[in-house]
Amino acid sequence: MGLCEAVQELEVIHEIPLYRPFVEKWAQVESFQARPDDLLISTYPKSGTTWISEIVDMIYNNGDEEKCKRDAIFNRVPFMEMSCPGLLSGTEQLDTVPSHRTHLPVQLLPVSFWEQDCKMIYLARNAKDVAVSYYHFYQMAKMHPDPGTWDEFLGKFMAGKVAYGSWYDHVKGWWEKKKAYRILYMFYEDMKKDPKREIEKVLQFLGKDLKEEVVNKILHHTSFQEMKKNPTANYEMMPTWAMDHSVSPFMRKGMSGDWKNYFTVAQNEIFDAHYKEQMKGSTFKCQMEI
Ligand code: A3P
Repeated sequence: MGLCEAVQELEVIHEIPLYRPFVEKWAQVESFQARPDDLLISTYPKSGTTWISEIVDMIYNNGDEEKCKRDAIFNRVPFMEMSCPGLLSGTEQLDTVPSHRTHLPVQLLPVSFWEQDCKMIYLARNAKDVAVSYYHFYQMAKMHPDPGTWDEFLGKFMAGKVAYGSWYDHVKGWWEKKKAYRILYMFYEDMKKDPKREIEKVLQFLGKDLKEEVVNKILHHTSFQEMKKNPTANYEMMPTWAMDHSVSPFMRKGMSGDWKNYFTVAQNEIFDAHYKEQMKGSTFKCQMEI
């Protein structure tokens, strides 16, 4: 399914012109000319995009916290396909920055990224925590329709009837691509367990060598506690008509295994069976908790 069909389907489901602005700017995204030294950060929504973006910006700025407070994270590492009335679109910011982020599945990524063999970082997070985080995000980020009850939303998530489609296809698509392209495939759960080791992996992937004290500064600055109180990282610089943190903060819990507080035993059984079916034949493995 192409983007337009996917959007139309979503619009029919939700009965509102939900992602119309994204579609209107789509031609600019599709024709984007990546440079060989561009870095792309790719994720399914709610997988830790902001976290890895902050880490990358700190690396590019050699651990200089003040430089990383120059602007909100959504301007420092812009969303390629982002289009929202009243805000600069991703494509309008693309030329001025060295790294971009996207939630696009592999089949919709502008071809120039493959042609230029750009380095890409893919960050995956377990499906159950993503579903819970996404449910809260749907409530606070006003571009989304009402998610309904948790049970209703979980059903939509499993069916891929949410923004950016199927989590299963997304993680599997990028997992396969990493065999042929320069993709560092990372996991949120690994970052929770040993963030320093994961930051070092990113450094190595980017060919950067920073002193240990700088790495420690990056580690500190990008911890959940620090990012939660940092207005340039916690999305509080977004207008409240776009995101309402009083409904649910963007930096919500930042933990692995929070799904246990939301899934009933029955939901978990259904989810596990469906997951097994969806992931059949793939070597992708992810920890559901740490
Ligand atoms: P929760 O809703 O589970 O708390 P994204 O940036 O892709 O939208 O992902 C947002 C999720 O990543 C939220 O998850 C958020 O709290 C979590 N997150 C952001 N920064 C983090 C950090 N430094 N450490 C751990 N989790 C973080």
